[in-house]
Amino acid sequence: MKQAVAAAALEYIRPKLEDDSVIGIGTGSTANYFIDALGGIRAEVEATVASSEVSAQRLRDNGLPVYDLNSVDRVSFYIDGADESNRALQLIKGGGGALTREKIVAAVATEFICICDESKLVHTLGDFPLPVEVIPMARSHVAREMVKLGGDPVYREGFTTDNGNIILDVYNFPVAAPLEIERKIDGIVGVVTNGLFAHRPADILLLGTPGGVETLYPQ
Ligand code: A5P
Repeated sequence: MKQAVAAAALEYIRPKLEDDSVIGIGTGSTANYFIDALGGIRAEVEATVASSEVSAQRLRDNGLPVYDLNSVDRVSFYIDGADESNRALQLIKGGGGALTREKIVAAVATEFICICDESKLVHTLGDFPLPVEVIPMARSHVAREMVKLGGDPVYREGFTTDNGNIILDVYNFPVAAPLEIERKIDGIVGVVTNGLFAHRPADILLLGTPGGVETLYPQ
């Protein structure tokens, strides 16, 4: 299903590609399928920007040109997976730890195309532990603040983000009001980003199901 949604995303953007189109690329196993599919049309791809070092390397391995985000004027499409999506296409991301760069590229992109298998579609976000990227010295402070908000933060052992920070995964934290909670967590000193993508949700969700790929728009 992940491979099918990656192929559907390629089919979706291919006719819209222009000579100066920059494609933003996410991180994770679904995004990897997209990168490999994009490699198949490399001659049509002018530029990409990546949301992680690992995706940048995979793009280069596929013969695709990778640019620094600061060197491009705009990003036409951002294609990425998610750990959860609700029907408003608000997401939880960051299972792979790349949430901050993902959020930056998504913010710049004109159109955010999310690609997932159907297991990721939920009624209320929060069954998946919410990743929060934190400056290392603020780890305990942020963990205490997350407990005050009602969650159970767990330090992701042995993991450092591409930005040199740590991740707290917050368990048992159903997110009834994603817009408000995203802002609240971002307001804790020491937090770099949290994995709620509510203020910048996806614009379209290509959902892999056993019956084929479904296209969902925000409700
Ligand atoms: C990476 O940090 C995440 O945001 C991924 O987009 C998310 O974990 C989805 O990964 P899979 O495509 O591997 O399910």
